Amino acid sequence: MKTIHTVAELRSALKSIRLADKKIAFVPTMGNLHDGHMSLIRRATKEADVVVSSIFVNPMQFSANEDLERYPKTLKEDQALLEANGCDFLFAPDALEMYPDGRRSQTQIEVSGISDILCGASRPGHFVGVATVVTKLFNMVHPDCAIFGTKDFQQLMVIENMTRDLSSSIRIIGEEIARADDGLALSSRNGYLSTEERRIAPVLYQTALWAVGALKQKKISVEDIREQAQQKLEAAGFIRDYFEIRSRANLLTPSEEESKLVILIAAYLGSARLIDNIQIDLDN
Ligand code: PAF
Repeated sequence: MKTIHTVAELRSALKSIRLADKKIAFVPTMGNLHDGHMSLIRRATKEADVVVSSIFVNPMQFSANEDLERYPKTLKEDQALLEANGCDFLFAPDALEMYPDGRRSQTQIEVSGISDILCGASRPGHFVGVATVVTKLFNMVHPDCAIFGTKDFQQLMVIENMTRDLSSSIRIIGEEIARADDGLALSSRNGYLSTEERRIAPVLYQTALWAVGALKQKKISVEDIREQAQQKLEAAGFIRDYFEIRSRANLLTPSEEESKLVILIAAYLGSARLIDNIQIDLDN
């Protein structure tokens, strides 16, 4: 695997690949890679001839009170994992390479509506930062397809809507959530958990599973399911952000008839903000 730090070098490395009519799959990341990211890389190897990944901790998607400064940087370990799982090129630019004129004058991409709810309401400006950096990375790599994890379900929808609205031909692929044996969704932020918090953390997924069962049984209202789920999380030691049952089509409150739903959760445990989701089909 070749590691590249500049856009010029990246473009020249990928030119011959494109001329040879080879397909490129792209996996953007912020590094501190784990098996969840590796499932994206392995999927990428199945979708294209050449796999490009990026590591860039994007300051534009963090607000002032968030974990930008302490976000773990583990480039050497990340390179070894990427290489072992079939990545061909790692693009690892610094902030000056990504934002040469600074972030203030950077053109911004805003995917309206969907960016302002759920995580977008809790983290104002977050999805503008994500959509902007992903657009820039797409313009640098020019992949045929790009793979994102479904743990960040709303992020995946923001990017799907963005590529559709901007008439991009990049195929967006959502890869299943990778979980630890106890059900906790793999995330770089799990590294912030103390031993005790790590023991409690799977309650997030267990509570989502409880909500799936309750929704299917239809014995209690959606409102009561949400409230009881929040109470379960708080009893375990979480601080609530949101627990929502939404339409999978647009992440809005579903109509009575809608059967394709998604349970979306965000909650704080100690200093870690954890997210998870489960997709449900009430017809099956
Ligand atoms: O999901 C992430 O790791 C980031 O939001 C992404 C897509 C790499 C953009 O910085």
